Amino acid sequence: MMISNERLHKAMRERRAIKHFEASFEVPASDRDYILHFAQDLDLGLATLPLRICRVTDKALREQIREVGYNQPQHTGASELWVVCIDTDVLAQDNNTHLRDQAMFYGAAYSQALMVAAASLGYDSCPMIGFKFAAVSELISLPDNYVLCNFVVFGKRNKAPLPRGSKLSLNDILFTNELAQR
Ligand SMILES: Cc1cc2nc3c(=O)[nH]c(=O)nc-3n(C[C@H](O)[C@H](O)[C@H](O)COP(=O)(O)O)c2cc1C
Repeated sequence: MMISNERLHKAMRERRAIKHFEASFEVPASDRDYILHFAQDLDLGLATLPLRICRVTDKALREQIREVGYNQPQHTGASELWVVCIDTDVLAQDNNTHLRDQAMFYGAAYSQALMVAAASLGYDSCPMIGFKFAAVSELISLPDNYVLCNFVVFGKRNKAPLPRGSKLSLNDILFTNELAQR
């Protein structure tokens, strides 16, 4: 299945970070596969895909994550909780000091792709870093060579988000030739 331009546009413009989800809703496996394929197809210039996802389905584990996640409702309420990780063995090893930076860059890009794909199927989502990374790493038995980047949770909202915050004007974002202070 391809995402039409119209659906992609709508997914990107209208998706919001959702806090409250319909916990009883189940995302069909075919939709999960579609979302994963979309991220898999993202071209980030690497020969081998570094993306690793730990899909947390165990309810007790979700509760434990919530305990180390500042009691945020998404941790137990979202249909899907995916821990987005990067396998650093797949990244260029020539500059180890920047390995974590690289991993976070890739993790963010894949997460965006996952959320856009989810939105194109009508799902709500939220990127999340509101949890104790070391505690979650232990809970999911993260191997040493993986970097945990963030969660992507998705499902169906059961509460509308607050109105969007104000945005910068395009003039405040776009500079020409030099980024001098105005
Ligand atoms: C890297 C990152 C981490 C985030 N972590 C959380 C989180 O832990 N909990 C949460 O409720 N929202 C989290 N958010 C969502 C932001 O709160 C949300 O994107 C912001 O409020 C803007 O809302 P909007 O995307 O609906 O416009 C995170 C967003 C980003 C980009």
